[in-house]
Amino acid sequence: MKFEIKDRDAAGRICNFSTKHGKVTSPNLMPVINPNKMIITPKDMKKLFGTEIVITNSYIIKKDEKLKEIAIKKGVHSLINYDGPIMTDSGTFQTYIYGDIDIDPIEIIEFQRDIGSDIGTILDVFGKPNQTKKEAEKGINETLKRAKKSAEIKCKMNLACTVQGSIYPNLREKCAREISKIDADFFPIGGIVPIMENQRYSDLVRIIISSKKGLDPSKPVHLFGAGHPLIFPLAVALGCDFFDSSAYVKYANDNRLIFPWGTEKLQDISELPCSCPVCSNYEADELKKLDENDRLIQIAKHNLYVSYTELKKIKNAISQGYLWELVERRANSNPYLFHALKLLKLKENKIWLEQFDTSSKNKAFFYTGENSIHRPIIYRVHNRLLERYKPSKNLIVFPEGSKPYSIHYSKEIKEIRKKSNFSIIVDSHLGPVPIELDEMYPFAQSVFPEFTDSETENVVSKLFNDFTKNKNIICWKGFKTIKDLKDLTDKKVDSDILRISAVCEMQFGVGSGSALLNGDIRIIKSEKTGKIRNVYCDRKHVLSMRASDGLFSLKLDGGKILHKKMKKPMLRVVVDKDSASFVKKGKSVFAKFVKECDPGLRPFDECIIVDEKDDFLAVGRCILNRLEMLSFDHGMAVKIREYIK
Ligand code: GUN
Ligand code: ZN
Repeated sequence: MKFEIKDRDAAGRICNFSTKHGKVTSPNLMPVINPNKMIITPKDMKKLFGTEIVITNSYIIKKDEKLKEIAIKKGVHSLINYDGPIMTDSGTFQTYIYGDIDIDPIEIIEFQRDIGSDIGTILDVFGKPNQTKKEAEKGINETLKRAKKSAEIKCKMNLACTVQGSIYPNLREKCAREISKIDADFFPIGGIVPIMENQRYSDLVRIIISSKKGLDPSKPVHLFGAGHPLIFPLAVALGCDFFDSSAYVKYANDNRLIFPWGTEKLQDISELPCSCPVCSNYEADELKKLDENDRLIQIAKHNLYVSYTELKKIKNAISQGYLWELVERRANSNPYLFHALKLLKLKENKIWLEQFDTSSKNKAFFYTGENSIHRPIIYRVHNRLLERYKPSKNLIVFPEGSKPYSIHYSKEIKEIRKKSNFSIIVDSHLGPVPIELDEMYPFAQSVFPEFTDSETENVVSKLFNDFTKNKNIICWKGFKTIKDLKDLTDKKVDSDILRISAVCEMQFGVGSGSALLNGDIRIIKSEKTGKIRNVYCDRKHVLSMRASDGLFSLKLDGGKILHKKMKKPMLRVVVDKDSASFVKKGKSVFAKFVKECDPGLRPFDECIIVDEKDDFLAVGRCILNRLEMLSFDHGMAVKIREYIK
């Protein structure tokens, strides 16, 4: 099994997953194939929707003599006539629907293995939402026991070991932690079908987060039985990689059409609000008049088109860095989902999510409503403002203005600087923004409406109070404010130095700014925009400021300085002996070779690479966080920028 992260946003990720029957990119959807009745064949699915992987049920195959014989003789790929990756389920879901049915947990693994399944699933014990904690615990113990035994006989088949634990977060996390110790390749989160059916999305969020907390981050996670695209964006943002859909047929059987915002009955639809090939071909009335089987096929196709399109939107949102925005927009279309998203404002959830979110995005932060202020990136910069930015004891506070603030308020700043070196702060929609940070992501790269909402205002005003505690605040009331300034200082403020230092502290930590600026400083600016581009200290190129996000790329000489100044393990990724020689040739650092990592480093953060003796080797950009670097066996951990030759 090979699974590696290619791109990421929120706690979501775009990954490559390799199987014997080909590569799959995630997030992805596995349509459920009923070998007894294929509404659309897997081959056609591949043609129509670009299907990369399907799921079928080994229990259904095994209990039907004819299917069983073909599967044993020719394999499951031949049985359903599909040469791509196939996952098989075990019959757990049938035990949930029909009660006690006779399935042997070992035999069903052997069967899946022998028919050539690419990913076989253990016979986990379905944890129902109405179980007591004790019952759920008993189910988990049995599931873990079966998982261990199954792993011993899986041979070359990838094994999916399901996380259970009903609605109890502690049990979910415990089960996830235990099951991660087993030699498994794939982790479904199970027992959620009844939760989905009753739109209990808050429970769903609690289940996903607690399971993810315990799971090995280097393995694919599958949300079992959640086939409605409404929840795809949120589930992906919380770290789910795979979905399966029987919903496409189930809903079609019921004449119901799936949309990204929910489900609608064909009989209620006057105009088809969709432009998939089916909806482009038929009017709503024509669809209603089709004979039953044709209609079933057309609706099933529409349902799959919509589901796959939502996944494409999600992947696009990940690569452009606006997954949270997509999640919020979807939550705005369903009150249960909206309520579930509120859970992400709990501190414990913010702390967990913050570890995975990238330090910068390709696209600006777009406000969509009261949930936006709770995004992990805001939590991070708010914390860093309090911990890493040191304002002077006097603050001049400006109201929100157009961006960048230093241009908008340039005249005012010039006049203030003649008289004082007070800290100049903009009371912005996302919190207090020191003027010297006004080009940094997300302060500059954010778009808010003129008026926000009370929730946002509360979060921001609480931060403002913490930020200005024990400070003397002067609110800007026009140029007359300057007259009253008493702190006539002869110490001149260099706004470029102030900016470089403040961005460094926010990005690399307290003490980094003064270290990098300790010498004879030369600043190169863009001729076109006048913005800082390169920073030299004692003729050495230490930093480059990126125009896109106002953050620094760390140059080799800057890395050397930070390596000296910042104590272990700060900013460091430690590689093993063998890997050090590759780093010296400029090769990327692969996760497999990482021995340790600063727990404070986040994806896309700048870092320094050292060997096990803490000798400096290179500077680069993290792709993974510490947890991931230490558990992934495949893929890049750090992209090297410059290295010691
Ligand atoms: N299909 C839907 N839910 C589940 C589950 O919890 N376990 C298994 N094995 N299959 C499922
Ligand atoms: Zn359609």
